[in-house]
Amino acid sequence: MKEDKRGNRAAGQADPGTGRSGSGVEVEGHYHDLVALSRVSAAISGLDDLDAILRIGLDNVLGIMNGAVGGIMLLDEPSQMLFYRVYRGLSARYAEGMHLKLGEGVAGKVAQDGRSVLLEDISSEPDAAYMDLISSEDLRAFISVPLRAKNSVLGVMNVASHMPHRFTKGDVHMLHSIGDQLGIAIEQARLHERLRGARERLRKLARQNLAAEEAERRRIARELHDETSQSLSGIALQLEALIEISARSGDQDAQFIAGLKKAQSLTVQVHREVSRVISNLHPAVLDTLGLAAAARQHAKTRLQPLDIEVTTEVQGTEMRFPPDVEAALFRVVQGAIGNIAEHSMAKKASIVLVYQPEEFSLRISDDGQGFDVSRITDVEESGRGRGLFSMRERIGFMGGTSGVESTIGEGTTVWARIPITQDTEYGKNKSTGD
Ligand SMILES: Nc1ncnc2c1ncn2[C@@H]1O[C@H](COP(=O)(O)OP(=O)(O)O)[C@@H](O)[C@H]1O
Ligand SMILES: [Mg+2]
Repeated sequence: MKEDKRGNRAAGQADPGTGRSGSGVEVEGHYHDLVALSRVSAAISGLDDLDAILRIGLDNVLGIMNGAVGGIMLLDEPSQMLFYRVYRGLSARYAEGMHLKLGEGVAGKVAQDGRSVLLEDISSEPDAAYMDLISSEDLRAFISVPLRAKNSVLGVMNVASHMPHRFTKGDVHMLHSIGDQLGIAIEQARLHERLRGARERLRKLARQNLAAEEAERRRIARELHDETSQSLSGIALQLEALIEISARSGDQDAQFIAGLKKAQSLTVQVHREVSRVISNLHPAVLDTLGLAAAARQHAKTRLQPLDIEVTTEVQGTEMRFPPDVEAALFRVVQGAIGNIAEHSMAKKASIVLVYQPEEFSLRISDDGQGFDVSRITDVEESGRGRGLFSMRERIGFMGGTSGVESTIGEGTTVWARIPITQDTEYGKNKSTGD
């Protein structure tokens, strides 16, 4: 900042970089600029929150510009207007009242042309807009620098003093460089913001898809149970009754009776199949008795026919979670048990459910051949990997974590844990029997 008061310099556009004369002063000036620049750059580096960048950037600049006031105006794309986003030492009335079209007033021109401006006294500047606000704020010396990213101007940074002739061209030069730095940081923060938004939308969509899929499975399961399954057991009973009647009435038509018996056993078989499908879609026990019972039942039905011995253990006091949470956890069990059935060649498997006041966790282990977890990095074209991937997603949606650990020749463990919050908890102390 200028220490002396030079009299009559005309307000106008500063040419950054030509503010000082004499090589000693110049070197010192450049050094000062570099220090200032690196100070701001260090302060905002690593920040990806736009408001934090602007706030911290401005505070650092004003710290360097001893006693100055100022603010950062950003260009609102849809309206093409500049608004103050952060300010220091300016009244709210000023900052809120000051909005400029591109090309309007001093800052509007800076934003339009992308060139910095130094005014010795803005209160006598014919081009300034909102002169009433400027005078009531008693602003005099004024610098406005563009905040640029690539070729577009994102906004301006204004620094002002209550004294005229307060700033040098060297100050403009320094602020101009800082403005470039801030521009890049703002652009990056906006990209980050957009990315975060996109990711958030995707997650929401994926979660809604899972919820819709779950609801659809539940609906089909119910329909199959209420219609198909009931009819099949009706037919099976009917056939059984016919067989009995024929036997009692001494009907000797062996072919007829054999036919009836065949039909009856086929019906029982189809009924069993349908029950299996229903249970895979959405087991009724999940709703009535909860996760542990459903896991126990599912594991037995799936693994016992393969001669894999399976135990289900509950630690802590069992509690119920909302249906979507229980359904998601059940899918994890289903996926892991399916993998044990299909890939493990295990003799034994175990499911452990641990209920703690703050956390629920789940472990599904087998003593099978194991696999190299590091090789499953993506969902393959064949669908291989989807089971593990969707498990991670489902648990992630509930704010939990999950993992797979496996040792070749020793076996595999799939684990998941979710925090118990008001969202996940809805009723305690429901116990289930085997
Ligand atoms: N318990 C397990 N024992 C041995 N290998 C397993 C086990 N669980 C998963 N795997 C391996 O990880 C792969 C990916 O599993 P997953 O994502 O469920 O896909 P998929 O079962 O459709 O192949 C499996 O193909 C298998 O090679
Ligand atoms: Mg699988």
